[in-house]
Amino acid sequence: MVLKQGSSDFRCLNFKKVFFVVSLLFGISFVTRMLAVGEFWRCNGHLLPTQTTQQYIGKLLQALHNVSQLNNIHGTEQRELLGKSELILKRILDLEDKKSKENGKTVKGSCTPHRHIFFLKTHKTGSSTIMNILFRFGDLRNLSFAHPTNGNSQFNYPSYFSSRFVDGFVPGNCSMFHIMCQHMRFQFTEVDNVMPRDTFYFTILRNPISQMESSFSYYKSIGVFSKAKSLEDFLHNASKYYESKGLSRNYAKNLMMFDMGLNPDGISSNKNFQLNWRTVETIFDLVLITDYFDESLVLLKDALCWTLEDVLSFPLNTRSNSTKKNLSKETQDMIKSWNELDWQLYVYFNHSFWNRVDMYGREKMQREVEELRKLRAQISMTCLEGEVDPEKMQDKSLKPYQSGIARILGYNLKPALEQSNKLMCQRMVTPELQYTKLLVQKQSKSKYYCIEKKESIT
Ligand SMILES: *[C@@H]1O[C@H](CO)[C@@H](O)[C@H](O)[C@H]1NC(C)=O
Ligand SMILES: *[C@@H]1O[C@H](CO)[C@@H](O)[C@H](O)[C@H]1NC(C)=O
Ligand SMILES: *[C@@H]1O[C@H](CO)[C@@H](O)[C@H](O)[C@H]1NC(C)=O
Ligand SMILES: *[C@@H]1O[C@H](CO)[C@@H](O)[C@H](O)[C@H]1NC(C)=O
Ligand SMILES: *[C@@H]1O[C@H](CO)[C@@H](O)[C@H](O)[C@H]1NC(C)=O
Ligand SMILES: *[C@@H]1O[C@H](CO)[C@@H](O)[C@H](O)[C@H]1NC(C)=O
Ligand SMILES: *[C@@H]1O[C@H](CO)[C@@H](O)[C@H](O)[C@H]1NC(C)=O
Repeated sequence: MVLKQGSSDFRCLNFKKVFFVVSLLFGISFVTRMLAVGEFWRCNGHLLPTQTTQQYIGKLLQALHNVSQLNNIHGTEQRELLGKSELILKRILDLEDKKSKENGKTVKGSCTPHRHIFFLKTHKTGSSTIMNILFRFGDLRNLSFAHPTNGNSQFNYPSYFSSRFVDGFVPGNCSMFHIMCQHMRFQFTEVDNVMPRDTFYFTILRNPISQMESSFSYYKSIGVFSKAKSLEDFLHNASKYYESKGLSRNYAKNLMMFDMGLNPDGISSNKNFQLNWRTVETIFDLVLITDYFDESLVLLKDALCWTLEDVLSFPLNTRSNSTKKNLSKETQDMIKSWNELDWQLYVYFNHSFWNRVDMYGREKMQREVEELRKLRAQISMTCLEGEVDPEKMQDKSLKPYQSGIARILGYNLKPALEQSNKLMCQRMVTPELQYTKLLVQKQSKSKYYCIEKKESIT
């Protein structure tokens, strides 16, 4: 058989060759699995990955291999790593497939709003505000949410996420959901079981220095932080307080790595940093940055093909200034080196965030951020009397959950709201636990919305 360069069969062959060579590094079982993935793709008539993608995948697999050697990983752990790389590969292929289809059909300048959305809700990053945006978007359109079972507000965190934790999910039956956004320790395989093929994945990262200050204050009373006199004490005496297998250790070191499902106790090496960057950027379509929150919202609405009104929000789950602490330069440096993996992750995605802003256009960004702030000021005038300490709240049903030594602020609504605005204003300040309850109740009254795995955006 003669294969023409550029023909689909030729690219297919090439594709398999790349995998064969790379997977020699991993042994026979890996070769079989990779070929199975390649075959699956070919048989399903998907487009084959371009050469650049093939090279990229090759590099990724090599990096994985290097990391597994460097960290002396074998047995079950190695199998897990290989399982992950297989999925990452699938994700790359999915994305490429999606891209080529989009190029084929979308008219320039027009787009269809995304409704299949996965948000990895990271801790202490402003993610409650993002969740409120997603809740309202879905609520208004009667979209279905993947909620945790038994009325929980988290997917059995800090265990790795499993599709078993999703209320109403039946494997093999088409109980797919539109939106999933509650706390979990991310595991792509399992999320992929629950969400449709064309799901938009995004998450948010924050400067680890302010994040750890916040985490210490919020989780002060539990496990790992409970015995430390202060954040400084904890950092100076970390070996006394922190154990890699200890209770609630996740809140105390490389919290973002942990939430992403990566190893928070991994070694600090360039190879490991690179592996983490690649893994995250392969899976997530967009990574927001808390420290540039309004710019993040603008990029988000653009990527989702939403409007500025759709991402309009008030800051939720914020602490009162009295429980925020200024940190000395020394403490900041200690946090940075203690959370080296998170720091590297943050610096990298902060950089790619601003590259994305450049592509969007700095001036356009500035205009839209101003527009967003103007809208927020307007709606704040309509809805709010003010942000207050929890005990000064008039409507106790809107009181946010309190934790540790942090005092979480809430909002008082204007007393005589017009009926037409009332529900919107209420929803904008409804804390996550209360809103989750409302949505679970609403969903239990309706039939599950069954979405086919392969369905395109609807
Ligand atoms: C993996 O290790 C080999 C040998 O040490 C090196 O040549 C290669 O560049 C490494 N690849 C990556 C992606 O780190
Ligand atoms: C959502 O459901 C409610 C109640 O069933 C209905 O009144 C409303 O029109 C629906 N909204 C949309 C956008 O489908
Ligand atoms: C799958 O869903 C359908 C309709 O929602 C239901 O009738 C059927 O019993 C489900 N199958 C399983 C195995 O749960
Ligand atoms: C570290 O622990 C020691 C003894 O437990 C204590 O004396 C010291 O003050 C701690 N360091 C800080 C910075 O609090
Ligand atoms: C808290 O501090 C910030 C910045 O320092 C300030 O803008 C804000 O007004 C303060 N909030 C209150 C309620 O005092
Ligand atoms: C923290 O620093 C800010 C300005 O850098 C200052 O306004 C504030 O009073 C300081 N807070 C404390 C508790 O020292
Ligand atoms: C994040 O990016 C901005 C814009 O490029 C830059 O000013 C800032 O220093 C960066 N932050 C970190 C921690 O790298």
